[in-house]
Amino acid sequence: MRILFVCLGNICRSPTAEGVMRQKLAKAGLGQRVQVASAGTGDWHVGKAPDTRTQVAARQRGYELAGQRAQQVKAADFDHYDLILAMDHANLAQLERLRPTANQTPVALFLRYTGGPVDDVPDPYYGGSQGFEQVLALIEAGCDQLVAELGGQP
Ligand code: 4NP
Repeated sequence: MRILFVCLGNICRSPTAEGVMRQKLAKAGLGQRVQVASAGTGDWHVGKAPDTRTQVAARQRGYELAGQRAQQVKAADFDHYDLILAMDHANLAQLERLRPTANQTPVALFLRYTGGPVDDVPDPYYGGSQGFEQVLALIEAGCDQLVAELGGQP
């Protein structure tokens, strides 16, 4: 199974989800069965490593994101992935515009089943370091939920 995480720039939220999820899948014994990747709806940062603030927040909690490089989501991704998860409602709307006619790949909000008060992972790009820590906490909770849905022990 292949899962794609999508945000706007692919340098903050979705690379975090990719890195956190990969580590949690490995821990749950699902690392072989489930592959994860990430992309942005925008193209400004294509080829770049995750934002330094994102890397620092992740590293503080034991996730290494330095090897990732940003890419832009493309129509062909809808055929390649089995599940596409958007970080916020704007990303979700953009994905639905990009979806090829007749494609039925499930596309949903990443935080859809966590049951918490928020269902968007807020864009941290123009804020302070606290925003990056909040993003990481939301993404860890979302990934725990997703691992459980996939049949693993979070
Ligand atoms: P991301 O954050 O979507 O979580 O990667 C952003 C990164 C860059 C920009 C916006 C959001 N930007 O406008 O360049």
